[in-house]
Amino acid sequence: MKYLIGTSLLVIFIILYILFHPLDFLSGKELPFDDEQEGLSNQIVIRFSHVVAENTPKGLAAQKFAQLVEQKTNGLVKVEVFPNARLYTDDEELKALRNNDVQMIAPSLSKMTKLNSDWGLFDLPFLFQNKEDIASFLSSKAGKKFLTLHEDEGIKGLALWSNGFKQMTSNVNPVQHPEDFVGQRFRIMPSDIIAEQFQALGASPIEVPFDQLYSALQEDQFDGQENTISNIYSRRIYGFQKYLTISNHGFLGYAVLINEKFWNSLPDKVKPKIQEAMNETTNWMISQSQKMNDDQLKWIEKESSIQIHYLSDKDKMEWYPKFKPVYHKFLQSVHSKELKKFAEERMEQMETQ
Ligand code: LMR
Repeated sequence: MKYLIGTSLLVIFIILYILFHPLDFLSGKELPFDDEQEGLSNQIVIRFSHVVAENTPKGLAAQKFAQLVEQKTNGLVKVEVFPNARLYTDDEELKALRNNDVQMIAPSLSKMTKLNSDWGLFDLPFLFQNKEDIASFLSSKAGKKFLTLHEDEGIKGLALWSNGFKQMTSNVNPVQHPEDFVGQRFRIMPSDIIAEQFQALGASPIEVPFDQLYSALQEDQFDGQENTISNIYSRRIYGFQKYLTISNHGFLGYAVLINEKFWNSLPDKVKPKIQEAMNETTNWMISQSQKMNDDQLKWIEKESSIQIHYLSDKDKMEWYPKFKPVYHKFLQSVHSKELKKFAEERMEQMETQ
């Protein structure tokens, strides 16, 4: 009996559907997806925009985070990742986050200096010794304070991700000694501290957004640039530059940010799951970025004719004195006493080496 009623209701439903949607039926279009019925009407979607390729440490970390969030929330939260500045470029993404056009972004820390000069700390040359040193600062009290720096502006920090050290490339000459920089034009990210670094070396800094890097290089808008191997590899910068110096002189990290109003609107049971997924991704990113940068350096060596120079400790001793004004510039603009002390200590260490 139950079976008969059920079947009759189904037949009535199909007849009614055909009556009200004759064109869909005739054109063979599939029935619309009923998300009420599937229990997806409450699904929360997080749009996560970034500017690099999918096969980079940041690109892979964003995808890993998306998978973990989906797993940990049993599909209640879906993270949609938009790589390659497909939605917003470097210049646009902070505004898009504030407007809640996207809910998450992960700009490089250098790009955060326009909001607060304290972020310039991360652009100081030779600030960190190795990946352990980076990880220990990022997880320290001083490092974690960066996450709350923009809460008054509606932006919450979820994590700081590391993509390891930047290297130098150039077309004019191999950069080994400070005088090798003189007169060259170097592409930089928007940061007064990075601009000062190249000026201190006698070069001209030129700001170019990441999505325009490849075309600017083809148009000969600059002679050299600094970046991690993963970005040099994924943007094929090595194909347009003659010399690569493994200098490990600078750090490239990312501020993983979420629109604060959106975050506050999330159900209480969901927030810890997202944070858990983020913490796992952050730990994974430290070793993953190192591995990718190491592997891709080997591929560059194999695939291209770029000349590679490894900066020796002796070479570094020549660079250090040049960077004193860069540290002084930061010390003049920093607000936090803790960061000031940290930068002063690092400058002293550099001077005594
Ligand atoms: C750059 O502009 O070179 C980097 O910030 C790109 C990135 O996000 O890794």
